[in-house]
Amino acid sequence: MTLPAPTAAIVLAAGIGSRMKSALPKVMHAIAGRPMIGHVLTTLADVGIAPVVVVVGPDMDNLSKTVAPHRTVVQTDRLGTGHAVLQAKDALAAHQGDILVLYGDVPFISPETLRRMRAARDAAVMPAVVVLGFSPKEPGAYGRLVVEKNGLERIVEAKDATRGELAIGLCNSGLMLVDAKQLWDLLSQVTNENAQREYYLTDIVGLARKKGLTCAVVEGGEEELMGVNSRAELAQAEAVFQERMRRRAMDNGATLTAPETVFFSADTEIGRDVEIGPFVVFGPGVKVADNVTIKGFCHFEGAHLAPGAVVGPYARLRPGAEVGEDAHVGNFVEIKNAKLEKGAKVNHLSYVGDARVGAKANVGAGTITANYNGFSKSKTDIGAGASIGSNSVLVAPVKIGDGAMTGAGAVVTKDVPADALAVNTSRQDVREGFAAKYRTLKQAEKDKKK
Ligand code: UD1
Ligand code: MG
Repeated sequence: MTLPAPTAAIVLAAGIGSRMKSALPKVMHAIAGRPMIGHVLTTLADVGIAPVVVVVGPDMDNLSKTVAPHRTVVQTDRLGTGHAVLQAKDALAAHQGDILVLYGDVPFISPETLRRMRAARDAAVMPAVVVLGFSPKEPGAYGRLVVEKNGLERIVEAKDATRGELAIGLCNSGLMLVDAKQLWDLLSQVTNENAQREYYLTDIVGLARKKGLTCAVVEGGEEELMGVNSRAELAQAEAVFQERMRRRAMDNGATLTAPETVFFSADTEIGRDVEIGPFVVFGPGVKVADNVTIKGFCHFEGAHLAPGAVVGPYARLRPGAEVGEDAHVGNFVEIKNAKLEKGAKVNHLSYVGDARVGAKANVGAGTITANYNGFSKSKTDIGAGASIGSNSVLVAPVKIGDGAMTGAGAVVTKDVPADALAVNTSRQDVREGFAAKYRTLKQAEKDKKK
């Protein structure tokens, strides 16, 4: 997957994204559980582009933390895309190869397209600048690419364009791959004499041509180059990404009964011969091995499911849930930071948190691990083959030995040795005939009132 020549990247992300109406920088809004800019950084890592410098705005420390360990530089005044790229000059002064400029709010750029840009740079004419263009249905405010017989001549911003130029359908996506030996010199010549009084990155194309250098265009697809500027566009981007994730899961051998109702995170891993019923949500950090069955209406986060596990319907697996091989988790069961070992079963209405459930142990309906005393969390350890009676409360820290049992409704505060039975001793009192007498009495009272 690696691109051959050393390529560094500059990701522009100084814009606050005012249309998002948010206290959070735009590129930190998540798509499939991953900040928008994280999608760009993951793709760069996949194709081996490094180092990466992210241009952020002032007061975006949270963004700098999000993109760490990548370096960030601050663009204090937002004077245009050319000015933004210049802020990374010191950070990349020593870089010899190429520099790829991307936008943090164009999250779906594909490795394949980056490779095509690379190939265009390596073509016989050796263009100094390769621009990623596209032909959107509505060219609107995009910059237009003016292509003539020697290739790309210049980019004209919509606000500066003549009517004739506005009629051009080929637009600038904003992504460029530039020879590092030329980039800083070309940028130093960019002025802000234009309709927006901004330093346009796009001007380096015309400036390169003046220097006798060649420029080229590679075309990408509109969906891949969609930008996110508003919450509505964020939702559209989410939809596009979910569509891809569903498709990928199915292509890799999972059955999705109603794919349009299943939601993945960018990092969800799904094995082969996995069955996923309707309305299942995968939060971040979920790994599903082969041959797992997930019934409808489940919600997962930070959970691992081993081969043959059967989960749901209506199960909630929270971070640290480890469902072992052939283990079963049934309806209305919540598991958090707990390991179910091979063949263990928690089938109905239970909370299992900070626990181990040993191999083949059975946890009865309504069992609760009382793991929190208001101050700290404690562990419950259930041995292999143990049988926990319905409605047991296991008050942690507590250990149930291998093969031990607890009676229905047991409140277990002390460890139970292997193969022992723990029951709470209050005895059942049976009063013969009581129910019949009670009913007769109550009926008589009712009749009297009439
Ligand atoms: C830019 C391009 C235009 C292209 C369009 C594609 C220029 C001059 N124009 O226009 O040709 O069709 O993108 O979407 O490059 N940014 C900074 N600092 C700045 C200005 C921008 O970091 O001072 C960042 C923004 O956060 C954003 C990106 O650069 O991620 C693009 O900025 P934006 O203002 O959206 O550029 P456009 O005017 O849309
Ligand atoms: Mg824009």
